[in-house]
Amino acid sequence: MTGAGRGNFITVAGVTLLSRALDAPGFAPLPPRARALLETLGAPPRLGAHLRVVHDVAVTLTGWVGPRVDVPAVLFGAATHDIGKVRHPAELSGPGSLHEEAGYRLLLAQGVEEGLARFARTHGSWESADVTLDDLLVTLADKVWKGKRLPDLEQRVAEGLGGPVWETFLALDDELERLASGADERLAFQAAYPTSG
Ligand SMILES: [Fe+2]
Repeated sequence: MTGAGRGNFITVAGVTLLSRALDAPGFAPLPPRARALLETLGAPPRLGAHLRVVHDVAVTLTGWVGPRVDVPAVLFGAATHDIGKVRHPAELSGPGSLHEEAGYRLLLAQGVEEGLARFARTHGSWESADVTLDDLLVTLADKVWKGKRLPDLEQRVAEGLGGPVWETFLALDDELERLASGADERLAFQAAYPTSG
């Protein structure tokens, strides 16, 4: 890298690392509103890269699930679920859930509707009884992007999708197996961007 700078204004040939993470080829572009929020809030590049890969998985998942979910809402949720890490950057590289409520509040403060801001709060609490299928899909994307499989979560999603649960579960399993096979590429992409700057 030849660039140098400070804070979120580190540049390489005049382009911020966040912009590079958001524009890099290979993953679906974020919804414009989500992208604008990340830029306004000065999101760390690693966060931008993480949201790219989780959103990309959510694009595939919602394409598979179809109109049984609110696709634009799920995609916005996937693209912003960890935005609270702007306020709690230590949680970009370590455990912690302070970013969940913080992200929800941050989105509300930015004028985002509750129905879209809620994903920031729900993505870590999928075992709660009152989460919706939309919430569960964001959580699922946030697991399978790195190849993590959670049978109990997948069972809840299969039940939420309706139809014969066992057949749905097996079909979902096939889809998730395909998605999980791309985990190494996603992990390498995310790791290439720093947690600060
Ligand atoms: Fe995440």
